[in-house]
Amino acid sequence: MVIAGGVEPQIAEALAAARAGLVAASDVDALRRVANDHAGKGSVLVGLKSSLGSIVDIEARKATGRAINEAMQSLEALVAERLVALERAAAGHAAANEAMDLTEHLVRRSRGHAHIVTQAWERLEDVFVGMGFKVAEGPEVETDFNNFTALNMPPNHPARSNFDTFFVKNGEPGSALLRTHPSPVQIRVMQEWDLPIYAVMPGRVFRRDTPDATHMPVFHQIEGLVVDKGITFAHLAGTIEAFTKAFFGSEFTSRLRPSYFPFTEPSAEFDVRSANGKWVELGGCGMVHPNVLQAGGIDPEVYTGFAFGFGIDRMAKERHEVADLRDMYANDLRFVRQF
Ligand code: PHE
Repeated sequence: MVIAGGVEPQIAEALAAARAGLVAASDVDALRRVANDHAGKGSVLVGLKSSLGSIVDIEARKATGRAINEAMQSLEALVAERLVALERAAAGHAAANEAMDLTEHLVRRSRGHAHIVTQAWERLEDVFVGMGFKVAEGPEVETDFNNFTALNMPPNHPARSNFDTFFVKNGEPGSALLRTHPSPVQIRVMQEWDLPIYAVMPGRVFRRDTPDATHMPVFHQIEGLVVDKGITFAHLAGTIEAFTKAFFGSEFTSRLRPSYFPFTEPSAEFDVRSANGKWVELGGCGMVHPNVLQAGGIDPEVYTGFAFGFGIDRMAKERHEVADLRDMYANDLRFVRQF
């Protein structure tokens, strides 16, 4: 290779300086600066290239031009290689920072769990859905009509006073209230759904009670309603027994005791007994009163039905052996974390 005297070492020197600079550059900005210094305008290599015309020997001029191009290409390749390496390092650094952050969160965060009343509510829904029921919900602020009148408790009916009702200021005094039980949802379902009806209605209910170990002014109940042709008291008893075994376990059994509710006739209370022999009162039930079917727009000569209702809070209290209902609503984490 014939190169004009003196140029070859200059190229080699420029190349070596450029390489050293590129390798030393510690970030992308520095790399660009070094690349510009050694291969951009005003650099030694570009200067040599523009003075090629002064080489008289044509072969020597070609060889020198080729040597400069090769140097430029090798620098370009080195810049590209260093760029990838620096970007990868930067990304790795960022990832490392984030990873540290995550670790910190993993250590500090622990997963919570649903409140024991929510757990009981969800399990009850699951069991009833498994038995073929659909879930219905209604509003917490109800009309006097749905909460009382349609449930066979006309104005001045003595049973109304058993419910210690919170009334709401809206419209005629006494016409709007916080529902005292989910039974008004029975009326809504009868009016809106197609027959036959197999529904459970869980929800929050309100009564003017002073909080104590076994009462809260705000609590939860689940109501059941079946309306179909040929439904008898035997279906009610069988459903309560099937539910008892499905929810509590096969060693549990249920019993019905005669009782009174204005919206069912005949009416019963139902109790549940565990293998240890202790009976626990759970709720009320009975055959839907013909007046209630009528209020729901159903012909009691054609259809019959049964209904039941019981407290969800009480079930959670029994299941977890909570001594005082108020503990379930105090939001003390030492209590909540036990379950
Ligand atoms: N609603 C009644 C109560 O709150 C329970 C019940 C529901 C009884 C359905 C009979 C039928 O006490």
